Amino acid sequence: MIVTIDGPAGAGKSTAARRLAERLGFLFLDTGAMYRAVTWHCQQRGIPLTDPNAVEQAARSMRLELVGHRVLVDGHDVSAEIRSREVTQESRYVAANNAVRAFLVELQRQFAEGRDVVTEGRDQGTVAFPHAECKFFLVADPRERALRRQRELAGKGQQIALEELLEQQTQRDERDSQREFGTMRAAADARVVDTSRLTLDEVVDHLEQVVRDGRA
Ligand code: DC
Repeated sequence: MIVTIDGPAGAGKSTAARRLAERLGFLFLDTGAMYRAVTWHCQQRGIPLTDPNAVEQAARSMRLELVGHRVLVDGHDVSAEIRSREVTQESRYVAANNAVRAFLVELQRQFAEGRDVVTEGRDQGTVAFPHAECKFFLVADPRERALRRQRELAGKGQQIALEELLEQQTQRDERDSQREFGTMRAAADARVVDTSRLTLDEVVDHLEQVVRDGRA
């Protein structure tokens, strides 16, 4: 069974998706980590992110593994490094690269083949798994999302003004919802869940209930 969870950054997707997968005993696929890993790899190798062909070649030649909570590139654990600000900011070039998108969607389908998976991203319910049995699209108020991001960064020792985070978030949302392929949008058959006024546990409880009801 495939459960897709899409939506903008800060809507609480990642943690909710991970916990849902644990509760259901499903594998978890963090597709954002794949875009991040390609970005990191290009940055390390000095491959210009603005050169679509070079980035595609790099993506095809690197060995990308998602093992539990860890992300490995050519056997090297990059789980922490791919969360850096540089990677977050520059991942947009990789996300806008149609050839790389097509390749990563192929890897995502291979990963899910014959398995029970909770997969999280922007285009999982629309492009990667249009026939998924259960689809969610998580949303939240922009301010609430920025506040969550601010708290997350503070936890890593980075103090960033809310206004700055709000501005970056708006730009990312625009790019994510306007690109040609893999546009961030809810699939017609997705359940839209507003997490603004829900705790993480409440979100996970709700998602789990919907999946279990659907399977019953
Ligand atoms: O969810 P995230 O912040 O880890 O995503 C990292 C980048 O990858 C961000 O630029 C959005 C992009 N992305 C995408 O285009 N498609 C996905 N399925 C997942 C992430």
